[in-house]
Amino acid sequence: MNTEKRDFDKEAASWDENPGRVRIAKDVARAILRQVALTHDMDIMDFGCGTGLLSIELQLLVHSVTGIDSSQGMLDIFNSKISGMGLKNVGTLLVDLEKGDRLTGSYDLVVSSMTVHHIREIESLFDQFNDATVPDGHLYIADLDPDDGLFHSDNTGVFHFGFDRNNFRKVFIKAGFNNVRDVKAAEIMKPVGNGETRRFTLFLMTGRK
Ligand SMILES: C[S@@+](CC[C@H](N)C(=O)[O-])C[C@H]1O[C@@H](n2cnc3c(N)ncnc32)[C@H](O)[C@@H]1O
Repeated sequence: MNTEKRDFDKEAASWDENPGRVRIAKDVARAILRQVALTHDMDIMDFGCGTGLLSIELQLLVHSVTGIDSSQGMLDIFNSKISGMGLKNVGTLLVDLEKGDRLTGSYDLVVSSMTVHHIREIESLFDQFNDATVPDGHLYIADLDPDDGLFHSDNTGVFHFGFDRNNFRKVFIKAGFNNVRDVKAAEIMKPVGNGETRRFTLFLMTGRK
């Protein structure tokens, strides 16, 4: 596993050109909607929102979505979508936990897709998720099942090669979330070299504060 930070700014402009990413965001949004009834009084945080693929799928159904990311390049693309689509209930915040920034605000639902494997210290992240969630609020995390380091063609900034669901559940519980459950959220076939293609799966793990 590579311990360097990945430069998401460089990838931002072409991020949405990868159809697999767009489909994963849609599949994760559908999985979220199967687990929780979103309502127009809910405030959502999308941690590691990137260009807003997941936030945009959910925003119509809730009061507000705040997209949080450490890459200004990603947020620039997201912000241009927000103004282009005239979205009044969606905003972004630049937050880099690696630089000591902390999550602020109070949310009914915290979601995150394909981001936690890029975070070095996940226990402190989950403590912050708990701080940022209202009592009875929800935490919904979508990420890779163990991938043997093969999902990314370059593992720069990949601190976890997917997550074992049993261990990940313990992180939810340690941070103070209850009723922890997991479902399959998405799957994707990807070439992994030597002419081989492999099937990767994503889980959605859900918990309640
Ligand atoms: C693989 S992308 C996923 C983006 C988006 N959720 C999606 O599904 O398209 C991971 C995102 O996490 C962000 N990220 C990585 N490390 C972070 C950190 N320490 N704090 C906040 N965001 C971070 C990156 O900038 C990037 O936008």
